Amino acid sequence: MQPRRSSFASAYIAETLAQFQFAVANPEQDQDELQWAHDVLDAYFSVVKDTPTIAKARKQWETSVGRGSSSNKKPYQYKELPRSTITREELKCLFTQRRSVRWFDSNRKVSGDVIEKAVELSSLAPSACNRLPYSYYYLDTPKRAQEIAALAGGTVGFSQNIQHLIVVVGDLSCYPLERDRHCIYIDASLATMQLMLAFETMGVSTCPINWPDDEGREQLMAERLGLEKFQRPVMLLAFGYADPQGGIPYSAKKSANLLLVKDSEYSAHS
Ligand SMILES: Cc1cc2nc3c(=O)[nH]c(=O)nc-3n(C[C@H](O)[C@H](O)[C@H](O)COP(=O)(O)O)c2cc1C
Repeated sequence: MQPRRSSFASAYIAETLAQFQFAVANPEQDQDELQWAHDVLDAYFSVVKDTPTIAKARKQWETSVGRGSSSNKKPYQYKELPRSTITREELKCLFTQRRSVRWFDSNRKVSGDVIEKAVELSSLAPSACNRLPYSYYYLDTPKRAQEIAALAGGTVGFSQNIQHLIVVVGDLSCYPLERDRHCIYIDASLATMQLMLAFETMGVSTCPINWPDDEGREQLMAERLGLEKFQRPVMLLAFGYADPQGGIPYSAKKSANLLLVKDSEYSAHS
C-alpha cells in the first residue's frame, strides 16, 4: 500500500509469529522459505509503529522468536530488478519454435540436469499467494511414461512414441477455502507454460496432454502415482528431443483483433 500506514497487520501479527515459531520447530521445514519469513518479519518490525498488540509482538520477536541473521529475502524496489535484454522479436521466435511435438527421438534421453534446470525456471511463474500448489511427477522410463500417457486418452496414435512424461499434479490443500479450488489449475498451467518454454531454450520439445475430468481415470492415476485425495492431476506433459523428420500439425492462431474485445465493442451490446 502506498503511502504505507505507520501501523499495519496488527490483526494477525500474533498468529503470524506463532506460525513462524511452528515452522522453526519443524525439522522438515524448507530453510529457504523460513529465511524469507524471517527477513520479511524483520523488515516489518523495522518499519512498523507500535500499537499495544504490535509492541507485544515486537518484544516477542526481539527477545526470542526473531533470533537469527537476516539475508536479502525481503521486499525491494522495482528498480533493483535485473533487466532482461530479450526483445519482442526474440520472444516471438521462441514462442513460434515451441510447437506441440508428438514424435521423439528414442535414442536421445533428456538428462536429469536439463529437467531440473527447466523445473527451476518454471517455479518463477506467478501463483496465487505464491503457494506453488503443484508438483511434477516424472515418469523416468519410456515404458512407464507410455503407460501413464495412455490413460489420458488424447494420446492415441502417439503414446507409444513418448520418451519422457510429467504428470502435473495440483495440491488442493494449499488453498483451504472452497472458493479458491480453481487456483491449482491456473497456477499449475502458468508454471507448466514456463516449463515448456524453459525446455525449449534447451532444445527439448514438449506436448501438453489433456487430463479429462473422469472419475475412473482419476482413480487409476491416483493408484499409479500414489496420490492423496487432495492431489489432482491437472495435465500431462510429454517431452523429449524431437525426431527431426516428425510431422508437426499446422496450428493457425486467432488474430489479436479477434482475441481482444475492446470496451467500445462490448458496451455497444449491453
Ligand atoms: C490443456 C491442453 C491439452 C491438450 N491435450 C492434448 C491431447 O490430449 N493430445 C494431443 O495430441 N495434444 C494435446 N494438446 C496440444 C494441442 O493440440 C496443441 O497445443 C494445439 O493444437 C496447438 O498447437 P501448438 O501447441 O503446436 O501451438 C493439448 C494442449 C493443451 C494446452
